[in-house]
Amino acid sequence: MAKITIAIDGYSSTGKSTVAKQLADWLEYVYVDTGAMYRAIALFALRKGFISEVSFASDILVEELSKITLEFKKNSDGKAEIYLNDENIEKQIRSMEVSEFVSPVATISEVRKKLVEQQQKMGEGKGVVMDGRDIGTVVFPSAELKIFMTASSKTRAMRRFTELQQRGDMVTFEEVFKNVEERDHIDTTREDSPLRKALDAIEIDNSEMNIEDQFHTILQLAKDRIARRI
Ligand code: DC
Repeated sequence: MAKITIAIDGYSSTGKSTVAKQLADWLEYVYVDTGAMYRAIALFALRKGFISEVSFASDILVEELSKITLEFKKNSDGKAEIYLNDENIEKQIRSMEVSEFVSPVATISEVRKKLVEQQQKMGEGKGVVMDGRDIGTVVFPSAELKIFMTASSKTRAMRRFTELQQRGDMVTFEEVFKNVEERDHIDTTREDSPLRKALDAIEIDNSEMNIEDQFHTILQLAKDRIARRI
């Protein structure tokens, strides 16, 4: 069967990764969470003290980029986890602290260039489901299927808050809501590759949709695109 490239973009906490993983499992495609890559760079910058509440030494981060190696490796359950210079950082990158600093880090063109090159290599052979903010516009502008996911900021903040609570993180709903809105603002207004719906992307607002319905809607779109390529 012919393989296609599936690009899933959208605002934070719209459930992109949930549906991307479901699709990749069903189609036996590779799943790439590009947000995890930006989060890994933000974690690196935080640990090195390049970024804090009061300053961001972006020029030093850019100089140090060549020292960063990112890899996805499958764990014993078959789930891909991200490694920063051979250290598994899958859990650390999901913290509220990383969420607070990742959007400024993702505005840096040199960071984007390095990650986009790696993402394009990972998707070279097609058969990939990639989620992020610029997949349909920059990474794979000729992807056969592009989805743009949206949901109200309240719905998204509530989903993220529940997730963080389940992990045992001590956060308030207000903090999470503020972070979701701040990230939306930075992600959509940055100069390099802002979050935009590609002209040929299909928009899905899942505020009122359950996970199963969403999966079946997008899977049907993927099957249609695959059938056209056979
Ligand atoms: O999907 P996520 O919330 O884990 O992404 C974290 C941040 O990374 C997000 O606020 C913006 C940035 N990002 C990006 O700029 N481009 C991508 N392709 C993926 C994520």
